[in-house]
Amino acid sequence: MPELDSKHILLGITGGIAAYKTPALVRLLRQAGAEVQIVMSASARHFVTPTVLQALSGLPVRDDLWDGGAEAAMGHIELARWADLVLVAPATADVMARLAGGRADDLLTTLCLATPAPLWLAPAMNQGMWRHPAVQRNRQRLVSDGVLLLGPDEGEQACGDTGPGRMVEPEAILAAISAPSATPTETEQILLGLNVLITAGPTVEAIDPVRYISNHSSGKQGYAIAECAAAMGAEVTLVSGPTRLDTPVGVTRIDVQSARDMHDRVHENIAGQDIFIGVAAVADYRPAAAADQKIKKQGDAADHTLILTENPDIIASVAALPERPLIVGFAAETELAEEHARQKRQCKGLDAIVVNDVSKAQIGFNSDYNSATLIWEQGEVTLPFQGKEALSRQLLEQLMSVFGMRLTVPPGALGPT
Ligand SMILES: Cc1cc2nc3c(=O)[nH]c(=O)nc-3n(C[C@H](O)[C@H](O)[C@H](O)COP(=O)(O)O)c2cc1C
Repeated sequence: MPELDSKHILLGITGGIAAYKTPALVRLLRQAGAEVQIVMSASARHFVTPTVLQALSGLPVRDDLWDGGAEAAMGHIELARWADLVLVAPATADVMARLAGGRADDLLTTLCLATPAPLWLAPAMNQGMWRHPAVQRNRQRLVSDGVLLLGPDEGEQACGDTGPGRMVEPEAILAAISAPSATPTETEQILLGLNVLITAGPTVEAIDPVRYISNHSSGKQGYAIAECAAAMGAEVTLVSGPTRLDTPVGVTRIDVQSARDMHDRVHENIAGQDIFIGVAAVADYRPAAAADQKIKKQGDAADHTLILTENPDIIASVAALPERPLIVGFAAETELAEEHARQKRQCKGLDAIVVNDVSKAQIGFNSDYNSATLIWEQGEVTLPFQGKEALSRQLLEQLMSVFGMRLTVPPGALGPT
């Protein structure tokens, strides 16, 4: 059971269907040792009653900025100072818009502006709402303001749709906010002056003009590392297979389809890079010959064979360059994860490898969470289960603490100070 050890959690609840899950969330937070103060939006009262929440949290639920009695005792500023962490779950499209715009038109948004504590949001809404450019714009604005987003998850929705927008389950919220690196410190510019090339996402290998072979990679981990590296001061180039993700702020993105495209773009951009991080799930094989026209159904009930040929090994080809950057690979394994990763690191000549066991629930492909082990020649360290953003930060910090000496920026490279 994750520990929250008397942490003061201010739980904001807004008006989405997923508010029905908040009593379970409050129980989990309390069982983990947190003190929980709930602040509801006016709309949230339509979905869950303050009576239930008060009984579970043990504290009166607050919902009114203009509550004279409360303002005299513990006003919105005191609540904002009281919080070690503010969590808004569910976070509606509406509250995201208000927070992204810096509004303070009710108790919850006023608190969110006033608090020095980290702010986490667990968005929950219909998939069409989540995909709307306005919501995505607000999401990006919030992330660049330092707000930590949990999810949303993909799947079946209360309205009958399927897609992204489900609130992350209470257990996963608890795991994320109680991870050791969950409380962000100010981003230190530890990569300032360094060039970092990252690959992310899947590759797609054409069978014919309408069919292809690919894999389940969402690109989320590679994009999170790219975003974090840019926030830490690096010049980041991201070579990405097809994903649904937005380009992280400050990152140069190059889109590719196949492993051979990715190989070529990586080699066109590798000169001058200090670090190469290969996160992409590159297809090992491709159809030996992609048909020019759509392959027609034969209707003969016989088995048909697709002949595959090996793709170039991008990371090994970078490792073989005479002037090579620091090279970090990723391995998604389903059995004997660390043993296989150690072999892979050695065979390919990598400086380090990050391995995750994707057979475990909620880890790796398509998830917003990950846990991993970083392995290098002389050591290894486990990066615990947490959001992919927090894991990226830990990974880059760890890489700099192991390899930082090799990556010293030449004097003058940063220009006049
Ligand atoms: C039945 C119903 C369900 C709703 N579910 C959601 C939802 O899951 N997510 C969302 O963003 N808005 C949802 N809304 C719309 C919000 O309740 C509405 O935008 C409201 O202004 C949100 O206010 P708040 O963010 O202050 O709580 C729903 C509305 C209704 C009537």
